[in-house]
Amino acid sequence: MRIWHSINNNRYKEIGVTRQQVWEWIEKLRLLGVEIRGVPREGYQLVTIPDILAPSLLHAELGDHPFGRHIVHYFRIESTNAVALKLAGEGAEHGTVVLAEEQTAGRGRLGRAWYSEKSSGIYTSIILRPPLAPSAAPVLTLMAGLAAQKAVSATTGLSVDIRWPNDLLVNGKKVCGILTEMSAEVDRLHAVVLGIGMNVNHIRMPVELENSATSLRMEAHRAVSRLQVFVALLRELEHYYQLLLKKGSSAITERWAAASTFAHGKRVCVATAAGVALATTTGLDPTGALNVQYDDGRQESLVAGEVVEMKSL
Ligand code: BTN
Repeated sequence: MRIWHSINNNRYKEIGVTRQQVWEWIEKLRLLGVEIRGVPREGYQLVTIPDILAPSLLHAELGDHPFGRHIVHYFRIESTNAVALKLAGEGAEHGTVVLAEEQTAGRGRLGRAWYSEKSSGIYTSIILRPPLAPSAAPVLTLMAGLAAQKAVSATTGLSVDIRWPNDLLVNGKKVCGILTEMSAEVDRLHAVVLGIGMNVNHIRMPVELENSATSLRMEAHRAVSRLQVFVALLRELEHYYQLLLKKGSSAITERWAAASTFAHGKRVCVATAAGVALATTTGLDPTGALNVQYDDGRQESLVAGEVVEMKSL
């Protein structure tokens, strides 16, 4: 959609600013990616507003919502998780949201990098201060995956699966990953950082990812509003967080198991520090561990590692 506005000599007088002031503002907006055209004898025309996850737009949508009351927005940062962990160490309040349009060193699970193309995805870290023991951290991670799944399916209409522990898949390819980091004592969580990376409006994925990853736009065949998805994500997070505090971890694990095809009877290849083996999933336990039955008869409750679906030939 194109929006046209112009500012001319009468307008300068009306709002009491000089041409020089307006020119300086225009230059600042252009640096932020706003497309503004200078029109001789007319003034300026605002051509397009970029899809920026600006705190002012988010606040307008969220009102006094606990998640997002305090939003820190960057155009370019190494990693929102690194910033959020630092802010948490400095006392940032529960619900603080760190957002970036682009990450230069986005972190993924298992020491991997997270591809963070400028203004195409949602790159965010949310600081939680749950009154829970460190053993609850895996359920907080599942909770984030569940909230992200609900937000994406409600805003796009896509059918979204969750691969344990918390990758979102659309048509078998990853659209969202979550990296949970925390600071804790033996019996108390100081802060949990939920780092969420979502591929939203990528037109294509880099060659090395194209077999395993996709974007919401590529699957929905239309541009998707990052603002809408993000607002829905924060609302769902608040909903499931309150559910966890009120009803306990089984309220989350039961809902997770109902929302994921990976919970029961899925043929998977399991990769852990001990190696790689074929197995079938047999449910989640209340701590969030994934139960598997290996083909050699052994059973295990996975607390770390990853599973990949084995497609039958
Ligand atoms: C995964 O490997 O699946 C987890 C990816 C998590 C990426 C997000 S992007 C926002 C936040 N900041 C980071 O550096 N990582 C997480």
